[in-house]
Amino acid sequence: MEHLIDIASISKEDIVNIINLAKQFKTGKKNSDVETKTLALMFYENSTRTRCSFEIAGQKLGMNIINFDANHSSLLKGESLKDTIENLYFLGVNAVVIRHSYSGIINNVMRLVKYPIKFINGGDGTHAHPSQALLDYYTMLEKIGTIDNKKVVIVGDVAHSRVAKSNISLLSKFGADIHVCAPTYLQFTHYNDQISYHNDVKEAIDGANVVMVLRVQNERHEKEGYPDSSEYKRLYEIDTDLLKKYAANDVILMHPGPANRNIEVSSELLDNTVGKTILEQAQNGVFVRMAILNTLLKGVNNAS
Ligand code: CP
Repeated sequence: MEHLIDIASISKEDIVNIINLAKQFKTGKKNSDVETKTLALMFYENSTRTRCSFEIAGQKLGMNIINFDANHSSLLKGESLKDTIENLYFLGVNAVVIRHSYSGIINNVMRLVKYPIKFINGGDGTHAHPSQALLDYYTMLEKIGTIDNKKVVIVGDVAHSRVAKSNISLLSKFGADIHVCAPTYLQFTHYNDQISYHNDVKEAIDGANVVMVLRVQNERHEKEGYPDSSEYKRLYEIDTDLLKKYAANDVILMHPGPANRNIEVSSELLDNTVGKTILEQAQNGVFVRMAILNTLLKGVNNAS
């Protein structure tokens, strides 16, 4: 594994190795192969979980962390992302985590950069969020042991969701029975035969082992003429009664965060023991990102 851009570009074996290493870190492994390596966090879009957990993961591994401040950088004087990253490499940076609102920008800049810096996609537009899919998979395994033939239902704004795309890519590799549920205006436009599509949430979550709720991404919607959130809430909000009535008894509730309380998921559900899994997802993000950094940066050399 040279970089982490999307799930499609990494093998099943890479994924299994990351999950196993994350488990070792969670259960007490202390030694790191990447002490003194330097990581730059380049976030052009807001983030709490991804940014903080990469920072904490790097700190736990003994790395140097640079919180690159895009709003006060020479990008605002017209410097390109390629030139910025090449300069960071010569300053001693070994890897960059990039979050950006443009889908595919990381693939683009990676092709342009001439030096062996490692790229990690921290979420690009509606394209991919691979570290989120890996931590989601870790959490599912921790809770239910396997996802082979388990019914995993992704409910919400799949049209705009990089999390949904990365999860579907990963879940397909491991034999899950994948369902997506959304109103037509938030449904995928590129259909895939391996997935079951639903408009009706009760039908979708019937017997579900995992219900993954997605945030309604208002910032990515056309503003004019868009249905308001009360209509979405009426038809798609996941609450305790709905889960009890339709999903499997031991269903796991997941959400990548941040959640719109009382829109896509009820506040009461978020705050009860079922909702706690969402905080455990965030916690697992630290160990999974430790595994990603250790795997990518083990043995890399600095610029000379
Ligand atoms: N799940 C996720 O990417 O959260 P942040 O936007 O807070 O990083």
